[in-house]
Amino acid sequence: MNEVYHIPAMLQQTVNGLNIQPNGTYVDVTFGGGGHSRAILERLGTDGRLFSMDQDIDAYHNECTQAHRQLADDSRWQFVHGNFRYLGNFMDYYGVQQIDGLLADLGVSFHHFDSPERGFSFRFPAPLDMRMNQNGGRTAADILNTYDEENLARVLYIYGELKQSRMLARKIITARQKASIFRTEELVAILGDDKKILTLVFQALRIEVNDELGALREMLLTAKTLLRKGGRISVLTYHSLEDRIVKNFLRSGNIEGNIEKDFYGNILTPFRVIEKGLSADEEEIIRNPRARSAKLRIAEKL
Ligand SMILES: C[S@@+](CC[C@H](N)C(=O)[O-])C[C@H]1O[C@@H](n2cnc3c(N)ncnc32)[C@H](O)[C@@H]1O
Repeated sequence: MNEVYHIPAMLQQTVNGLNIQPNGTYVDVTFGGGGHSRAILERLGTDGRLFSMDQDIDAYHNECTQAHRQLADDSRWQFVHGNFRYLGNFMDYYGVQQIDGLLADLGVSFHHFDSPERGFSFRFPAPLDMRMNQNGGRTAADILNTYDEENLARVLYIYGELKQSRMLARKIITARQKASIFRTEELVAILGDDKKILTLVFQALRIEVNDELGALREMLLTAKTLLRKGGRISVLTYHSLEDRIVKNFLRSGNIEGNIEKDFYGNILTPFRVIEKGLSADEEEIIRNPRARSAKLRIAEKL
């Protein structure tokens, strides 16, 4: 396993945004290496509670740091292995009706990119897996070998924002007629070594494999009902597709981003927007270049 599981982005700003109440109940729906979770716990009193979710069990078994091991002994903390799209079911199971804050740091962790065998990176020869939850579901190879040309082009165009999506889809279809595609190095040989294109193709496949945008939409709707009045939601996004969903939702309270108004023209919204897309500062980006694309959005439930 790699030495650093993850370096949390915009740690202080994200956790400050939750305006933590020491005895409150909080959920970190993207535990990862636990950096944000540990910062929340530091601010909680003896009666506070923190649920940390991750659909990747590696996050729980992370042995990278001593601090991580200490979490398991903290009675205020509960790890939840599952997809955040089922947040409502998990909170029901634990008897939690309302929460004071929710943190989401979307996407994958360094652990995913830096673990060759998981297939998230074109830098390493590996099976084309890309599932965050390895217990089930289709892999990137399943998608590459079964989607028709139209569907492949759609995934590449929408999730990778690739203008050449049709041409790339054609190359994949032509290649797989000769032999199925199972490994990262095979895909690289088919598509060429333009790193920009490969980055976006791998991003698109990852988003499709994990239905990242579908899960995000469902989680946001649940968060709206779980948050108590005055409760905060703090979300870090890493690409424009997920950022647009979060931005529209926090502005309007619905997935479509429809702004509703009352008879007098006052905007009807369940949230007060507090942070509208804050970026990491230069000093942080030098220390942690992967924070460059992070955008922070925070809102309070009215
Ligand atoms: C960017 S990392 C979070 C890093 C974390 N904030 C930290 O400080 O180390 C995102 C994590 O969320 C998890 N994840 C992504 N989508 C998820 C989902 N739908 N349900 C549960 N966990 C998810 C990933 O497995 C990954 O570990």
